[in-house]
Amino acid sequence: MDSLSGRVGVVTGGASGIGRALAEAFARAGARVVVADLDEAGMADVVGAIRSRGGEALAVRTDVTDLASVQALAERAFGAFGRVHVLCNNAGVALWGGLEAATHRDWQWVLGVNLWGVIHGLEAFLPRMLAQKEPAHIVNTASMAGLVATRGLGIYNTSKYAVVGLSETLAKDLKPYNIGVSVLCPMGVSTRIRASERTRPAHLKNDAPSRAEPVELMGRSLPPEAVAEMVLRAILGDELYVITHDEGLEPLRRRFERMEQAIRQRKP
Ligand SMILES: NC(=O)c1ccc[n+]([C@@H]2O[C@H](COP(=O)([O-])OP(=O)(O)OC[C@H]3O[C@@H](n4cnc5c(N)ncnc54)[C@H](O)[C@@H]3O)[C@@H](O)[C@H]2O)c1
Repeated sequence: MDSLSGRVGVVTGGASGIGRALAEAFARAGARVVVADLDEAGMADVVGAIRSRGGEALAVRTDVTDLASVQALAERAFGAFGRVHVLCNNAGVALWGGLEAATHRDWQWVLGVNLWGVIHGLEAFLPRMLAQKEPAHIVNTASMAGLVATRGLGIYNTSKYAVVGLSETLAKDLKPYNIGVSVLCPMGVSTRIRASERTRPAHLKNDAPSRAEPVELMGRSLPPEAVAEMVLRAILGDELYVITHDEGLEPLRRRFERMEQAIRQRKP
């Protein structure tokens, strides 16, 4: 896609952090934006900010864990703007704690948002994005935690590895249709991700609250606006991987070296 001007972008998790910065960056680039989130006050704030700068934006309360809710979002987006050119499956939550202590509700909540949220986005939007036969792009927010495992982050790692695998395959599958795919893999970004529990639904809360503290993030914490600029460039340049932190290179290299060793040292 050569420009976002006059195009339409949809951002889940658009009320805060990276999603908010994506919505604002798309609007600055001339796109009309649909902001989707559970947080209505946050969305009103984002939409207000975009409109105050002369942009066009719409807020749609959406729970990405619920297919019907994401289908209703697609209805509203296509109903309001007729087309969707950029879909950002970005809503996500983080949860800290060893896998040995993980509860079924922990798995349901985190996979429900981080993995099923992305799948629901595809189910609801992709058929119409294909049918409109215009250049388009899908951005799935994973994490460096989708490329390298971190102790104490196992459920999140599982969800984000799945999003990376899904995105890598999707990029191949959609190549013939002129729909690009990017997978966003940041390390630390200054957002409200550490306060993810604020959106955990009552029926998925644990009886006893977890005592696990967020693990210390490696590397710098980038402002979400800087990450959004990188995503914008990846959309315009049709780049699959958006790896925001140089600090990611060493852990990635070590992972591949371990795999290489496993092959080379294999007994015949
Ligand atoms: N901040 C980081 O350091 C970091 C690093 C790597 C990846 N990420 C990923 O970036 C994405 C955005 O997170 P962020 O850092 O901006 O955090 P954030 O908490 O600031 O924003 C996340 C947004 O998702 C929304 N959300 C949560 N559950 C939802 C649901 N069921 N339906 C709809 N919306 C829901 C929240 O209301 C919130 O507005 C996530 O996928 C996260 O995993 C963040």
